[in-house]
Amino acid sequence: MKTVDSYNFAGKRALVRVDFNVPLNERFEITDDTRIKATIPTITKILNDGGSVILMSHLGRPKDGPTDKYSLKHLVTPLSVVFGRPVKFADDCIGQSAIDLAASLQSGEILLLENLRFYKEEEKGNVEFAEKLSKLGDVWVNDAFGTAHRAHASTAVIGQFFEDRICGYVMQAEIENAQRVLENSERPFTAIMGGSKVSDKILIIERLLDKVDNLIIGGGMTYTFVLAEGGKIGNSISEPDKVELAKEILIKAKEKGVNVYMPVDNLCADKFSNDAERQVVASGAIPDGWQGLDIGPETAEIFKKVIEASKTVLWNGPMGVFEFPNFAAGTNAIADSVVKATEENGAFSLIGGGDSASAVNNAGYGDRVSYVSTGGGALLEYMEGKVLPGVAALQ
Ligand code: 3PG
Ligand code: MG
Repeated sequence: MKTVDSYNFAGKRALVRVDFNVPLNERFEITDDTRIKATIPTITKILNDGGSVILMSHLGRPKDGPTDKYSLKHLVTPLSVVFGRPVKFADDCIGQSAIDLAASLQSGEILLLENLRFYKEEEKGNVEFAEKLSKLGDVWVNDAFGTAHRAHASTAVIGQFFEDRICGYVMQAEIENAQRVLENSERPFTAIMGGSKVSDKILIIERLLDKVDNLIIGGGMTYTFVLAEGGKIGNSISEPDKVELAKEILIKAKEKGVNVYMPVDNLCADKFSNDAERQVVASGAIPDGWQGLDIGPETAEIFKKVIEASKTVLWNGPMGVFEFPNFAAGTNAIADSVVKATEENGAFSLIGGGDSASAVNNAGYGDRVSYVSTGGGALLEYMEGKVLPGVAALQ
């Protein structure tokens, strides 16, 4: 793969696929700019070489063409601040105005294209659409790791129209760090799996069973495992059709000598709300009318000890509904321990994207773990062993 370091961008217009699919609040302000900041090294290298940059991304999942809600125009001002120079905007990602704006770019200038998903052709991986986009740049850089699991026009199909296909720094770092965890991990290696659905994590858990010493299970998916062990979960979230699978995972873990840690207590609520009544209940004994929304304090202590003694930590998925401050303690305790393992035990810690990344960033710990991935689904699929179309297109 050609890397950004090995390429001289002088005089070139670099068409850079980024994943600027960032969360925006109702005032269209960015609430987590991790994905944007992550691209600074790639963009800076191109500009410092004397090249110009055409940024292309999707935002959200617009259904029927252009809408104000999903317009990338909301990113123009924040991007100008991040990159320390004005950012031009093309209000259509293809067509004459985009062609003219791209053609007139001077070295050191940045142009942002409107949301690629305003065209259905993007997600369909349409070849003609990819070719139109390709005309805007001299060289294609793919730095959109977060979207690399999609075989879309701008993430994969476009590659065929360029002689120079360059792997951006974000893409490179993501792959290196995932590889390090999967293939070169120092022991003990602890994987912390959370989030609401076990169905999202089955494949990665199965693969990790061959690699980890400890598997910590938390979050909503816990309750499917509790059902597998015959416990009572009250009104907690669960996937009854995955109970057999949960059983199989527990059996396989035992066969492979992996220590599995599940919650011994849960912080329960009488309704799904931050203001709910709360009580700590032992695992497997949650009464009807109550639901587990976080791990309990005893569990947090047990998990902490395991994490803090680890040399490699992979964390994917929160321990509870951390968006509710009253049910964030478990997730925050895990974030604390991952930082401790990193700073005091010299562990390599990789935080999977999505909710666990937000939890770590919101706690202000983004710089105190080894790496926060910009990929949610993409990281999971990569770790499951799948070939990501966005990576394959660079090879
Ligand atoms: C993400 O946030 O998961 C990526 O940007 C990909 O977006 P998608 O899941 O809508 O394809
Ligand atoms: Mg997604």
